[in-house]
Amino acid sequence: MSDTDPRVAGMQRIFLTGLPGSGKTTIGHRTADLLGWSFVDTDDVIAQRMGMPTGQVLVEYGEKRFRQLESEALHELADGVRVVIATGGGMVISETNRKFMRENGLTVYLQALVDTSWRRMQETSVQIARPLVAGDNGRQRLQDLYAARRKWYEEADIQINTEEGTQNELARRLISLALAHGYLFLPFLPREVIKFHIGNVSSQVIVEWGGLPHLGDALHALEFSERLFVITDSQVGALYTQSMQTLLERAGFQPHIFTIPAGEASKSFKYFQQIIDWLVEHRAERREAIVALGGGVVGDLAGFIASCYLRGVPFVQIPTTLLGQVDSALGGKTGFNHALGKNLIGSYYQPKLIYVDPAFILTLPERIYSEGWVEIAKYAMVLDDKLFTLLEENLDTLHLRDPALLTSIVARAIRMKMDIVQSDELDFGLRNILNYGHTFGHALEAITDYGTWLHGEAISIGMEVAARVAVACGKLSPGEATRQTRLLQALELPIRSPGTDVDAILNTMQRDKKVRSGRMRWVLPTRIGHAEIYSDIDAAIVREAVVAVCRGEDEA
Ligand SMILES: NC(=O)c1ccc[n+]([C@@H]2O[C@H](COP(=O)([O-])OP(=O)(O)OC[C@H]3O[C@@H](n4cnc5c(N)ncnc54)[C@H](O)[C@@H]3O)[C@@H](O)[C@H]2O)c1
Repeated sequence: MSDTDPRVAGMQRIFLTGLPGSGKTTIGHRTADLLGWSFVDTDDVIAQRMGMPTGQVLVEYGEKRFRQLESEALHELADGVRVVIATGGGMVISETNRKFMRENGLTVYLQALVDTSWRRMQETSVQIARPLVAGDNGRQRLQDLYAARRKWYEEADIQINTEEGTQNELARRLISLALAHGYLFLPFLPREVIKFHIGNVSSQVIVEWGGLPHLGDALHALEFSERLFVITDSQVGALYTQSMQTLLERAGFQPHIFTIPAGEASKSFKYFQQIIDWLVEHRAERREAIVALGGGVVGDLAGFIASCYLRGVPFVQIPTTLLGQVDSALGGKTGFNHALGKNLIGSYYQPKLIYVDPAFILTLPERIYSEGWVEIAKYAMVLDDKLFTLLEENLDTLHLRDPALLTSIVARAIRMKMDIVQSDELDFGLRNILNYGHTFGHALEAITDYGTWLHGEAISIGMEVAARVAVACGKLSPGEATRQTRLLQALELPIRSPGTDVDAILNTMQRDKKVRSGRMRWVLPTRIGHAEIYSDIDAAIVREAVVAVCRGEDEA
């Protein structure tokens, strides 16, 4: 079956197979939670139907009848979509069952050593009787079952070694593989192509949920040379590099991959130099593209390298965080940090392609997912009241990472940012509006040594400060400020930084690069969907707003 087989695409069913004790229930539950799908277990269906535990069904009715019931349960459960189905350990024995699973979804074999399965079974044996491996020779019988079934398990589309990683990590791994296999592609969601022109560069953003396997086509359309230099980080790499390598090779490319440690500290001269050395060692040429696969850290560093290696080589962004997709991969700002400050070395360099697959967001850890929403909330607050209303209307479901909703919001935010960037590439005018929340946010990051708050979280608190300033100056109604606060809270973003030293932060704000002629510049909303820039804000008002957010919740 090919990676993007139409029989599979859009069917939204995952069948988990493997020995008893391989983790089908726990990993299956977690995967379903992350996908926002339901989870079912064929054993539970049998137990419910027969009114007794499955072990007892096996003993009372015999294995032949049990296998029949198993097949019936499989067919019944596969009537549903958006479902993860854990199958009984012996489901794969029947060729008919194996064929049915292959044709109706993605089959995933959860591999575990016999010893591991045995140990896990001992831990759960009180709850689940397992007659096939009961008695003194249980361990040996499990070994025999494994020897007999292994070849069938291995027919699965995907195999996952459950010996390495937590259940959360394994569920994310499963999703990343499903994505790379084209399995999360949804034919009913439109692919959006957003073209833009900046200076003499024409470029495009492609937005397609689950569209990762189509990346090769997009790269071919740009007529890049075969060799591609992919830069990623350790966390994204653990999930995606292997699939990415296979996917690009199948498309006729020769990818070389460089992995930096995940985290802001890698946006440094050290990795700039190491990657340049790597490119030189490989004699990378002018028509060979650099591809950034990761969040803003990878994108910024890889983009800067692309801008200066051989005076510029083609650059492709594949942003894998929400922040990357709606913000950092767009607009051409690249660079890395200096020991004395963030983003002090950099350039403006436009990618030839920004390939946005919102399904990457499924594997994002919660805190980083929430952080990404800040940018979207910010765009809504200063530029787009309709987006703000849309977010408010969907507050209860945003955490579900729903494909249609997420894709439409991501595409809308991208169009908005690209409109602004096209009218103000170098950040002299309108683009400054996007600095909403930065005056306080950047200072907060700086005085906490970039260690306490994620960037987006600091900006969220900065938005709260700016809204308070705007209300105090009579520019924004208190009701609209409250709507912003509610939105940020519903997105599980912070709006306070209790215990922060007020004088220290005010001093740092005063030194920020956005200060002109000694006066702090503030982007302040005047209503939802609109903001203006001010540099005549009364210092007492600023102090009052800062004091308010630096107080603890109960002191408010
Ligand atoms: N160039 C710009 O215009 C611009 C704009 C805003 C921010 N930035 C920069 O972006 C950086 C922050 O970007 P970020 O928030 O994307 O951080 P990041 O790149 O550090 O990614 C956050 C974490 O998420 C992990 N991750 C990424 N994608 C994942 C996925 N799909 N599944 C699981 N884990 C995943 C990463 O490994 C990392 O640990 C900062 O350096 C900031 O200065 C740049």
